[in-house]
Amino acid sequence: MSPRVVRTITDCRAALAGLRAGRRVAFVPTMGALHEGHLSLVDLARTKADVVVVSVFVNPAQFAPGEDFERYPRDLERDVRLLARRGATLVFAPEVEEMYPEPLLTRVAMHGITDDLEGARRPGHFDGVLTVVAKLFHIIEPEVAVFGQKDAQQAAAIRRMVADLDFPVEIVVGATARDPDGLALSSRNAYLSEAERREALALRSALGRAESLAAEGVADAAPLLAAMREELSRHPGIDVDYVALVERDTFRPVDRLTSPAVAAVAARIGGTRLIDNVVIEPHAG
Ligand code: PAF
Repeated sequence: MSPRVVRTITDCRAALAGLRAGRRVAFVPTMGALHEGHLSLVDLARTKADVVVVSVFVNPAQFAPGEDFERYPRDLERDVRLLARRGATLVFAPEVEEMYPEPLLTRVAMHGITDDLEGARRPGHFDGVLTVVAKLFHIIEPEVAVFGQKDAQQAAAIRRMVADLDFPVEIVVGATARDPDGLALSSRNAYLSEAERREALALRSALGRAESLAAEGVADAAPLLAAMREELSRHPGIDVDYVALVERDTFRPVDRLTSPAVAAVAARIGGTRLIDNVVIEPHAG
């Protein structure tokens, strides 16, 4: 059955008032251009609640000037068709004017978790994400919200915002969906040429090198980072933005693996910036 699509905050709240009736609501925020990664989060949401709300909103507040806000892929009809097959109940797809009728004078601002990596490269990005997610949480009032591990720093920041600001919502993080060759699914993969897509596989192989070394007992960050850089340097088409090993919750750099940590990479391939990460476990022995 096709999910109901609502375009205004008033209609969204009214639809939810009817749907909720004592049932749990799970929420999957997206910017549309849905792929199997998003849809796997919808599947996960369905295991957590009876009512699954998906938002489709390309949020201008999280794009820095010169980023791809204008050309970000948009196809609501296709998104709704895909969501129908995965059993979403309600799609909230507001226009920019509905979410931001006036310039915002109030924002959610975070420090610490969001200072480095994506936060350092994309000024204002995380405040834009946290602000829109806070607004969406107020509009939808979900019991559970599902985010992807692909955006690991975003997931850590949202967990912290929810704790700091007492949002009554459980945050669930779903595994990164990958193509069979390992490339992490991303709406931005649509920008890649065939040759660039082949180059992009180096992100996953670089992370794989760190995983294998850690499994062999290497625990110091320096050789793990060096191995990732070395793998990426073999691909001249890749312009590395960062490689990092950070704590899962705080995103502070890790010197030595003593608990699970996030190995993260960001790189530009042609005009496209991609990110990927894996959680690395310390050697058991
Ligand atoms: O991960 C995303 O697609 C976006 O950052 C989100 C969480 C939908 C907020 O706009």
